[in-house]
Amino acid sequence: MADFPIKRHRRLRYNPLVRDMVRETILNKNDLIYPLFVVPGEKINRPIKSMPGVYHKSVDVLIEECKEIAALGIPAVILFGIPPKKDEVGSGAYAADGIIQNAVRAIKANVKNLVVITDVCMCEYTSHGHCGVLNGEEILNDETVQLLAKEAVSHAEAGADIIAPSDMMDGRIYAIRKSLDYKGFKNIPIMSYAAKYASGYYGPFREAAESTPSFGDRRSHQMDVANGNEAIIEVATDIEEGADIVMVKPAGAYLDIIYRVKQKFGLPTAAFQVSGEFAMIKAAAQNGWIDGERVMMESLVAIKRAGADMILTYFAKEAALIINGKLSMVNG
Ligand code: PBG
Ligand code: ZN
Repeated sequence: MADFPIKRHRRLRYNPLVRDMVRETILNKNDLIYPLFVVPGEKINRPIKSMPGVYHKSVDVLIEECKEIAALGIPAVILFGIPPKKDEVGSGAYAADGIIQNAVRAIKANVKNLVVITDVCMCEYTSHGHCGVLNGEEILNDETVQLLAKEAVSHAEAGADIIAPSDMMDGRIYAIRKSLDYKGFKNIPIMSYAAKYASGYYGPFREAAESTPSFGDRRSHQMDVANGNEAIIEVATDIEEGADIVMVKPAGAYLDIIYRVKQKFGLPTAAFQVSGEFAMIKAAAQNGWIDGERVMMESLVAIKRAGADMILTYFAKEAALIINGKLSMVNG
């Protein structure tokens, strides 16, 4: 390898067009998945305070939003539901006329060219806010898995295109795959939240989904933030159990995990830029401390550079607008 002065790294950085030519990572609209929060009622479009630009929407409003998302060229949404009432066993999660089931049917009937992903977990539906059924203060694994499989099937029956279990119970991917196949949904992919950490970055989401646990925390099922090798084991298990797409969550503080998962397995890999990551960038931008658009794009490109093929992000619409603008500049 030649040394300075033969080698000059800056040669490729002077001309913006040359910089464009040598750029390694380009964020596309196809990389984006937009999370949405559905609530009961009509004409509801209620801002979520800790997440500027994100709203609680009733199904009628959600349909219009989904049309807009599809028109922007974003291929997919992921739905989170806030049920009208919660109980000990989260029965709203697997009710045929539950909030998500109704939303999916309505979107599928009214919006073309949009992939509808549903988040499968119990915490939005249980009165105690835990991700499964309890015995005392213990979250029961195997009993919860049965309910998650029911929830997944009910989402598929409503028309969901991809099922995304976010609960981190053991054995749930296999149970969900078997139930989906048994009910005739053998071609519905599973996007598994495979390496999901017990993270402080979920704060704004728990306010938005009204899913803060009434006691304790999620450390008995979500991963310890200090562990990397364990993520590889988690992902390997989910792949063996039938996951088609594996997810790492959160994203920005876990780029090493995204990188390792993609390198090791080569499966379609998703990363969830979670509510706290979004809120931090928004808050700093609102204070004028950072250039919000620039940091948004930087954070997304970094997640893709690490190895993510798709990014679940509350920035999806804003990023798509910028991508659309750039494309039209380049094309015309
Ligand atoms: C449900 C779920 C959570 C998120 C996605 N699915 C919250 C949690 O595990 O407490 C977090 C998403 C976000 O913070 O944007 N289990
Ligand atoms: Zn949960």
